Amino acid sequence: MTLAELLSACDELRATALQEVAGAGSIDAWTDLRTALVGRKGGRVTHLMAALPGLPAEERRSAGAAINALKQAVEAALDAREAELRAAAGGGPALDLTMPGRTAWRGSRHPVTLVIDEITEIFRELGFTVALGPEAETEWYNFGALNFPADHPAMDMHDTLYLGPGTVLRTHTSPVQVRTMQRWNPPIRVLAPGNVYRRDFFDATHAPAFAQIEGLAIDEGISFADLKATLTHFAKRFYGATTRTRFGPSFFPFTEPSAQMDVEIDLGDGRGLRWVEIMGTGLVHPAVIEAAGLDSQRYSGWAFGMGPARIAMSRYGIPDIRLLYDSDVRFLEQFA
Ligand code: DAH
Repeated sequence: MTLAELLSACDELRATALQEVAGAGSIDAWTDLRTALVGRKGGRVTHLMAALPGLPAEERRSAGAAINALKQAVEAALDAREAELRAAAGGGPALDLTMPGRTAWRGSRHPVTLVIDEITEIFRELGFTVALGPEAETEWYNFGALNFPADHPAMDMHDTLYLGPGTVLRTHTSPVQVRTMQRWNPPIRVLAPGNVYRRDFFDATHAPAFAQIEGLAIDEGISFADLKATLTHFAKRFYGATTRTRFGPSFFPFTEPSAQMDVEIDLGDGRGLRWVEIMGTGLVHPAVIEAAGLDSQRYSGWAFGMGPARIAMSRYGIPDIRLLYDSDVRFLEQFA
């Protein structure tokens, strides 16, 4: 074969090969065709190489280049046809390296958890540690030890979720006060976050299960001044240094005197600053200190209880408490 013959054989094979490749109707036909064209043994393109040694040395280079160019053109056509066949088979493009990667999905902490963590951190700086108690609680810890009269309406079967005789789902975190005083000697400074349960409707502002966070400080000589100073410091740390606070009278059987603490905050609803109650508080009733086995002549203290869900709602402008329980990722990932 002369160089001229070889070059025209290349042109001819290019024309027929590209036509055959375009006509390959299935992956099987395509596979056979690839072997017939560029297979290492007996492929029609490969076969042209056999003519090279018969050419004069100075012609071999251009002949080799022509065969290589042919081989590349045939292979490119084969690749393109393969992608078409696979796409048509429903498998999508075999491998699309231009597709953007998927970013790793990152979870986020729940807004109520964020609030609990932030409150815990502020009180931790003041020497408070975290204490936990059971959610299935005895009537005595939940009510009796906390100075509720035996016929108090809160103990009614219709208000409280009973698990069995004498056992309730705790209605507040205050029983942890009693458990803590029984277990540790003063000075006591603890924070008790946890879930509590009430027979309540599930609507925009109520949930039958919700978080509370309880605080307790017990020592010799603790007064209402300590309560006011500590809680005012907390409010200014949590809501901002210029936030105004006020205390008003309230009633709880386990505190005397009892109070509520209000903060002046902007709820982000366009109505500007207004007073919002954020917790119940008071000096721990001597009957509670005695029920826990401590000497109420020697020890005194204060306590508070607040609802982190309410606080999260006011802080983040959440209009409906049910959003906190829906586990809707579109809502939750806003807090990442
Ligand atoms: N346990 C009360 C409730 O669930 C909240 C509360 C009020 C806790 C006053 C306290 C307190 O420790 O001193 O409504």
